[in-house]
Amino acid sequence: MSSSNSPRSLRLVFIFGIGLASKVLSCPPNCTCQYLEVNCTGRQLQEYPLTIPLDTRQLILATNNISYLPSVELNFLTDLVYLDCRENHIGEDLGFTFISVVKLVYLDLSANNLTRVTFTSFSQLTNLVVLKLSDNPNLVEIEKDSFANNSWLRHLDVSRTGLTFLDTSTVSDLANLKSLGLSGNPWNCSCSFLEFSIWIKESGLNFPDAENISCYSPSELRGWPVPDVETQLHYICLTHLYHGGAGYRLRVLGGAKMVVLSKEYGYVVLTGAASFVLITHLAVNVAKARKKYNIEYPIMYSTDPDNGHIFNCIQRAHQNTLEVYPAFLFFLATGGAYHPRVAVGLGHAWIIGRILYAYGYYTGDPKKRRRGGIGSIALIGLVGNALYSALQHLGWVATE
Ligand SMILES: *[C@@H]1O[C@H](CO)[C@@H](O)[C@H](O)[C@H]1NC(C)=O
Ligand SMILES: *[C@@H]1O[C@H](CO)[C@@H](O)[C@H](O)[C@H]1NC(C)=O
Ligand SMILES: *[C@@H]1O[C@H](CO)[C@@H](O)[C@H](O)[C@H]1NC(C)=O
Ligand SMILES: *[C@@H]1O[C@H](CO)[C@@H](O)[C@H](O)[C@H]1NC(C)=O
Ligand SMILES: *[C@@H]1O[C@H](CO)[C@@H](O)[C@H](O)[C@H]1NC(C)=O
Ligand SMILES: *[C@@H]1O[C@H](CO)[C@@H](O)[C@H](O)[C@H]1NC(C)=O
Ligand SMILES: *[C@@H]1O[C@H](CO)[C@@H](O)[C@H](O)[C@H]1NC(C)=O
Repeated sequence: MSSSNSPRSLRLVFIFGIGLASKVLSCPPNCTCQYLEVNCTGRQLQEYPLTIPLDTRQLILATNNISYLPSVELNFLTDLVYLDCRENHIGEDLGFTFISVVKLVYLDLSANNLTRVTFTSFSQLTNLVVLKLSDNPNLVEIEKDSFANNSWLRHLDVSRTGLTFLDTSTVSDLANLKSLGLSGNPWNCSCSFLEFSIWIKESGLNFPDAENISCYSPSELRGWPVPDVETQLHYICLTHLYHGGAGYRLRVLGGAKMVVLSKEYGYVVLTGAASFVLITHLAVNVAKARKKYNIEYPIMYSTDPDNGHIFNCIQRAHQNTLEVYPAFLFFLATGGAYHPRVAVGLGHAWIIGRILYAYGYYTGDPKKRRRGGIGSIALIGLVGNALYSALQHLGWVATE
């Protein structure tokens, strides 16, 4: 029904209302009616029964084959408080279904064939406290602010539907909400979902079957419980680092490309720590040599004719390593973020190279420091790795 039809339907409600109100409506066949309650559970009804007493407060149509709720007839029941339509085939747009049943407090539309909930679906039901929309596998959209007029809502269930997204304000603005069913939905944990997952954690509401509220897409996050994914989404979505190879796991989320440091980066850090042990070792060797050859601080290089040469060799081995150390650390850390295995391999080669270099130098024959040539090659490799990573980061070279 389009909105242009709405005044017409209202007029029909009025005309038919006068006509029908004059009749006494009997209980529908095969239903039980008592104390303002009509119970038509499991009667294989194909259609909404048309002879429901107008003063009915509680109407139960559960477990039938009803595919359509006729707006006109339903809205005669202006005293209706409780409507149970679960397990039917109701699939129409509910836009103008609930117009005059404004006293409705309980509405169960679970296990039907609803496809969409819009702002107009329940906007007249301002007394609604319980709304069950679960088990509607074709329900893929709940429009933003669909429940804006349902401020008394306490229990809302949208479990086991086709929903991938729910706008946070649609539910967070419901001041009286106590329980929200969200489980069994194929949630799309993109960056636009971040706000919602934070809200879930902080809202303090009851989320029934909470362990089954999990991500379905993107595939990397499939099966992750939504409350746990919050930390990861936070990181992915707020650090706008871009891309990588092995070091970064690429995520295409919320339309933006983002990256996470891989677990392997831990080895890059350990390699940096190992290099610091090396530096300390070389410094200790200099200190020992100072003592041994009796060279006072702050003399950097000795001019002592006997022992000056060997001390200077030990001093140079340390100093030369320090001279390249800032570059080593920088390129190890940056390139390692993208290609951690390459960085770790080259980092270890550099450390070994520097040990060979130092012990070659310690012989007193400066030429023997060249034994550590592998260190220089490794450093060049680290520079290359970092530069290549930078080009990938900028998108100037292809990745993966
Ligand atoms: C009422 O039930 C009987 C038997 O259970 C069935 O034959 C009949 O079609 C039903 N009537 C309606 C209106 O569903
Ligand atoms: C409605 O009727 C069914 C069986 O016909 C029964 O199982 C159910 O409890 C009734 N519901 C209410 C609310 O009376
Ligand atoms: C009601 O719907 C179910 C499931 O679609 C179907 O198996 C059953 O035959 C239908 N019953 C009637 C009376 O149409
Ligand atoms: C549910 O609705 C879809 C279209 O919205 C339709 O194709 C499908 O047949 C319906 N299923 C049932 C059981 O009514
Ligand atoms: C919200 O409810 C008020 C009455 O309580 C009504 O006048 C208004 O039309 C409703 N909003 C919408 C969008 O239907
Ligand atoms: C969660 O879902 C699984 C599989 O769908 C189900 O077996 C399990 O009972 C559910 N957990 C709860 C608490 O309902
Ligand atoms: C998930 O959301 C993102 C961004 O909103 C979108 O690009 C993507 O197509 C969605 N994926 C699915 C399976 O809905």
